[in-house]
Amino acid sequence: MSGLKDAPRSCYCGEPRVGDVGKELVLKGWVHHRRDHGGLIFIDLRDRSGICQAVLDPSTMDARGFDEAHSLRNEYVLAVRGKVTPRLEGTVNPNLATGEIELKITEFEVLNASRPVPFKLDEYAQLSEDVRLKYRYLDLRRPEMQRNIILRAKAMAAVREHLDGEGFLEIETPILNKSTPEGARDFLVPSRLTPGRFYALPQSPQIFKQILMIAGYDKYYQLPKCFRDEDLRANRQPEFTQIDIEMSFVTPEDVYRTMEGLVRHIFKRTKDCDLQTPFPRMTYDQAILRYGSDKPDLRFGLEIVDLTDMVKAGGCSFQVFANALESGGVLRAFRVPGGARIYSGTQLRAEGDLNKTARTCGAGGMAWFQVVEPTGADRGGLKSSIAKFFDPDLQTRIRTAMEGQPDDLILMVADRPGIAAAALSQLRLKVARDNGLIDDSKPALCWITDFPLFEYDEKTKQYSPSHHPFTMPVEEDLGALRAGELGKVRAHAYDLVLDGEEIGGGSIRIHDREIQSLVFRTLGIDEEAARMKFGFLLDALQYGAPPHGGIAFGFDRIVMILLGESSIREVIPFPKTQTGVCMMSDAPAPVGRDQLDELGLAFVEKP
Ligand code: AMO
Repeated sequence: MSGLKDAPRSCYCGEPRVGDVGKELVLKGWVHHRRDHGGLIFIDLRDRSGICQAVLDPSTMDARGFDEAHSLRNEYVLAVRGKVTPRLEGTVNPNLATGEIELKITEFEVLNASRPVPFKLDEYAQLSEDVRLKYRYLDLRRPEMQRNIILRAKAMAAVREHLDGEGFLEIETPILNKSTPEGARDFLVPSRLTPGRFYALPQSPQIFKQILMIAGYDKYYQLPKCFRDEDLRANRQPEFTQIDIEMSFVTPEDVYRTMEGLVRHIFKRTKDCDLQTPFPRMTYDQAILRYGSDKPDLRFGLEIVDLTDMVKAGGCSFQVFANALESGGVLRAFRVPGGARIYSGTQLRAEGDLNKTARTCGAGGMAWFQVVEPTGADRGGLKSSIAKFFDPDLQTRIRTAMEGQPDDLILMVADRPGIAAAALSQLRLKVARDNGLIDDSKPALCWITDFPLFEYDEKTKQYSPSHHPFTMPVEEDLGALRAGELGKVRAHAYDLVLDGEEIGGGSIRIHDREIQSLVFRTLGIDEEAARMKFGFLLDALQYGAPPHGGIAFGFDRIVMILLGESSIREVIPFPKTQTGVCMMSDAPAPVGRDQLDELGLAFVEKP
């Protein structure tokens, strides 16, 4: 056989249709499956577009070629020439886009052989993720991964298409940097030319995009790689991609509107889904109160109700609650419609699943009430092992506030506000997941606004920025900031939440050097330290910095949700494992003594 190797392809394997019957095509791809059927050999030829069934028939090709076909194995690379013919009735495959036709091969050429593959490409479900990642080049051949990577590329193209159309400029910023404070550890790169000094890989292009605004570029975007040395989870990678955006002369409203247009466009282009705009909004305080979380999953209800004042007003002699409320705690609850029929006493008990969930969030536990018909001994309408500590009047008030109907279940947590919120948020998610309450039919987007400027760490007893230290405080709260009442200061900061996942976060920035210095001082970063870390930004702020603001989206997270995947590793071509290792290349790896000497580095035992 010759000549086929260099012959141009007529189309991709997944493209021929009934309309092509009679045409002679040249296809190139991988042997997905080979089946010998009596006198015929069937080959599923695959490329990134799909699969086409090719048939080798001894009556339509020369005998030597047909004999050679017996040696074909999975993942061999082939060029084939053949005629498109309709499949015989009863052999049509409705699951395949090309399922109505097949290619009768007249000629083929093996372009490359393949060693026996360590796993069949359609048996991946039983494989450990480590094996998939070690042989990522094979894993990426699977139709599922191809679908993911192709959608990722489409989403990236949609971002560029939309933002270019809106007058944004795509501008690159450096990778070898000084540290950017985004709350994680930096990845450091030693400098050979200036021994003892290090570059930091960017946790985000935050400072550079602000400098681009000061430089007058007005609307910037980039799809940068960001690097954060933090503990990894399903939605976190040490290097990930953002859609990074900054705009001059804007208010939060301008940012919301522009970004809603962008997210709409991504959904339209990739899923042909028309999102309703404007997206709903909720303040941070409302989100914590109603959902226990600043990334509420709004695909289901189970809204939290605060019962603190109602119970404090009297009628409750339950000591655990009384103690929690006396020491500044809160009492909050949510109602599970029909939950009394779903959850048995065993599941509700202290050692049951739900209580365990509450305890993993630091709560002492969870209390529960079944809602019953208010009659006889249950005239308050609540039933539980602790109902006797609640006056019937209080029971009635609780039931009314919770809109409880007979057979509903009320789950309650009394604790410090942060712990009660976290426990109820997790309980809400668990109950929804366990009972299939999540409505996946349409995406649930929501802006969370008015974040606090600082968050307090109980362990270190220190305040740190909720977003980053360049975030503009709300004007009315500047007095509180100056007076050191840090818990009261709100920020012009916002997150965008999709299906309970934080997909983006941003803020209006400080463009005034005085306020910036005040925030640094408040955070315990003195003038000298600020100068050392961000002197260039402080200088730039003095040369006509326009008011500006922006946002960054976690691109991988958006793609993960678009595809209904549960880990961003499924949408990143070459991800790291949970321990930060690339299974394929074995990075991170030791380096030679000579490289270390050149950098002036030596290792010491960790104390
Ligand atoms: P932030 O730190 O909130 O903001 O990051 C923006 C978005 O990036 C995504 N993200 C991640 N995705 C995958 N793996 C990670 N390790 C990871 N960390 C964050 C999240 C998050 O919402 N400079 C600011 C933005 C700004 O103020 O404009 C920033 O980086 O979806």
